[in-house]
Order: sequence, then structure tokens, then C-alpha cells
Amino acid sequence: MDIKENIEKIREDFPILKREMSGHPLVYLDNCATTLKPKKMIDAVVHYYTYLGANAHRGDYEMSAQVDYAYESARRTTQEFIHARRPEEIVFTSGSTESLNILAMAITNQWLHEGDVVLSTVAEHASSVLPWIEAGKSKNVKIEYIPLDEKGRVTIENFKKALHDKVKIVALAQVSNVLGYEAPVKEICRIAHERGIKVVVDGAQSVAHLPVDVQELDCDFFCFSGHKMCGPTGIGVLYGKFDLLEALTPVYFGGESNARFNKCGKV
Ligand SMILES: Cc1ncc(COP(=O)(O)O)c(C=O)c1O
Repeated sequence: MDIKENIEKIREDFPILKREMSGHPLVYLDNCATTLKPKKMIDAVVHYYTYLGANAHRGDYEMSAQVDYAYESARRTTQEFIHARRPEEIVFTSGSTESLNILAMAITNQWLHEGDVVLSTVAEHASSVLPWIEAGKSKNVKIEYIPLDEKGRVTIENFKKALHDKVKIVALAQVSNVLGYEAPVKEICRIAHERGIKVVVDGAQSVAHLPVDVQELDCDFFCFSGHKMCGPTGIGVLYGKFDLLEALTPVYFGGESNARFNKCGKV
């Protein structure tokens, strides 16, 4: 198949490309903001609303079990996609923003104290840095920024210079939405862990473009959004190392948290 035929075949997967804009065929280049939706994904969503409809993990009847099965198989697919150790390390959220907010709230509430520092960069998306600023206000947790080099990149040298004893969390994007540079996340995690610092990686702009192996990176948390990789709007992922997720108290309660509440002896 030559390139032109291939492009035509790919375009056929995206019904929206049959639209015109101002009398011209639609040309769409805003994929970093959100990708267009392929027919297969649209069909899957329509299939759910047409033939399934039940909630995941809330019912004990056949249709509900079918939803549970589909939900858990999506979790396993996601686990394999980012090479997580176990399916329980994949938490579904509404998107990167929610994943990052949950982490900032839970970690600040439980693990951070007055004067502690979250180290980030000035090339972050607002969703990666504002949750820490907001969550940190009540405890006087501060945000500091790794200086970028002359091209706007995070370097290991600058990262090391920015480290000190009060830094407890490093929160940064694997690929910046501002400049597109990839941060040396694996090396950052190695150095951070030597000092007992946890690393939260915003993978919203990287996961669709780079092979991501969370075990190889050894990051503690990794967040991304479905809608930036041909999935539906309103689906996201919060990956966390199993022991860390177990140690954190959820910020939302209800539904599936009953079992956890009983286990923690809190009710
Ligand atoms: C680097 C980065 N992080 C986080 C987000 C937020 O993602 P979402 O809007 O899907 O929550 C974006 C969105 O553009 C982003 O580029």
C-alpha cells in the first residue's frame, strides 16, 4: 500500500474528516489538545449505551457482570500498555487533571508537612502545578522550580542543583506541552529515590508518542488522558506503585471504597 492509500485508509477511520470547514476538507492539527475520534472508539461507546448500560462493580446480575468484565479487561490492557506490575496499579479517573489533583490532595494531606517543598518546572501544564499550589496552601507547603537550560529543557545538572533536604515530591511532565522537550525522567527518579523523594509524572503529552514503561522509569505515579490518544473525553488514568496507592487515603469516598474502609477499620 503506498503512502497516499494508507493515509486515505486512516482518514476513513475518522468520520469527522468528512466534514468541511469554510468550504474546505477538514485539516486538523490540534492533536496535543485532543485527538479526533476514530469510528471504532465511537462504536464502542455507542455499544455500551445501546446494549450494556449498567454500572461497573455495582450490580450482581448478568449485564452488570458483562460491564465488569469489559471494565477489568480495559484495566489489563492499560496495565500492559504502560507495563505496570499489576492491574490494581491502574486507577481510572476522568483525565490527567483529575489524576494530578487527586495525587496532590492525597499526598499533601498525608505525607507533606509545613515547610516541605514540591519541586516542579516552569514548563508545566497548569494541571500539573496548580493542584500542588492549591493543596499546599493549608500546610504552607512550597513549590520550587528546576531552572531550565537556555533551550528550555530540564537537565540532570539543574535538577541536582535544585534538590535540598526539604524537597519531598518532584512533579513534572515527561514531555512538556509548552516546548515539547522530553525530561530525563528515569534518571530523575533514580536520584530522587536515593533521597526518599517521590516522583509524580504527568504523561499527558508523552504516552501517545513514546513507549512508556513505568517499571523501567521507576516513577512512583504516572498520569494521562484518554482523549489525547483517540479515546473518549472523560477517561483518564492514574498509575501508582501498588504499595504507595495502598498507603494513601482516598480523597473521594463511596462506592467501591466500602471494602477499603472496612479493611482500614475506620467504620
Ligand atoms: C502536559 C499536560 N498535562 C495535563 C494536561 C491536562 O489534561 P486533561 O485536560 O486531559 O485533564 C494537558 C492538556 O493539555 C497537558 O498537555
